[in-house]
Amino acid sequence: MSNTKGIILAGGKGTRLYPLTKVISKQLLPVYDKPMIFYPLTTLIHAGIKDILIIINPYDETLFKKLLGDGRQWGINISFKIQHKPEGLAQAFLIGEDFIGSSNVVLILGDNLFHGDTLEKHFTRSKSRKVGSTIFAYPVKNPQRYGVPEFDKDGKIISIEEKPQYPKSRYAITGIYFFDNSVIKKASKVLPSKRGELEITDLIKMYLNEMKLHLELLGRGITWLDTGNIDSLNSASNYVKIMEQRQGLKLGCPEEIAWRKGLISNQDLLDLAKPLIKSGYGNYLIELLK
Ligand code: DAU
Repeated sequence: MSNTKGIILAGGKGTRLYPLTKVISKQLLPVYDKPMIFYPLTTLIHAGIKDILIIINPYDETLFKKLLGDGRQWGINISFKIQHKPEGLAQAFLIGEDFIGSSNVVLILGDNLFHGDTLEKHFTRSKSRKVGSTIFAYPVKNPQRYGVPEFDKDGKIISIEEKPQYPKSRYAITGIYFFDNSVIKKASKVLPSKRGELEITDLIKMYLNEMKLHLELLGRGITWLDTGNIDSLNSASNYVKIMEQRQGLKLGCPEEIAWRKGLISNQDLLDLAKPLIKSGYGNYLIELLK
């Protein structure tokens, strides 16, 4: 079996952010000092994933390619595929079938931001499970907006509901999912929901029915934000700003993570920094070398 691959789902209409997203993809909007897509991208690199497919809308291709290229500059491989209509998260595995091949795969939503130094431990454990799926739950104030797991008294997951009116727990299922290769076959069996989408929760339920679903609880030390409406987008920007100004360390910086992971050399980092000097981003990269 080949290495685990990664998919970033960066399509969708972004209508909850109109007029901001009328002419630009949501995942290219700024979250403080970088485009939103940098955050899920660095999360995947952090999880040790080097082959990454980005699924985008047809009219966004040129801009995404201009921003990210083929990933070579960061020691990774990035490719793109088009989703013609936003027909649901589970469609990612049908669009990405050839890319996934015989590998296991991690899906991350292009509008999700994860931060915290225990994440790596969760990701390493999830990647080491060669069979089944691992999902992550996080306590939130408004679970109605998310996929929500129900637990039994031993903490075992017994059901999942998408955007329930009466949530059975205060946990949301976050937008990063680890799957074994059977996800391709399973995705082909998902039927459109009432809102006409191939729902990720229906896919996860198949793993649950086969008793092959693992759940990792993300604790208080981890931050998980999504950026689906204007307030959450603004909160994410504020969060990144506060953390970066306090610690002097950037979140979601692909150059830094690639360098820390040994995917690029000191010289590569310097070369990447040079054209970015004026914004201060380049100086940050150079300072890392000191
Ligand atoms: O953020 C976590 C939540 O994400 C989960 O708790 C839910 O179970 C899951 O269904 C999903 O809910 P959302 O309502 O947040 O999904 P949304 O439709 O906003 O899509 C999430 C991202 O995926 C968004 O950046 C747009 C992109 N997308 C969405 C769809 C439906 C696509 O690229 N293609 C699509 O077809």
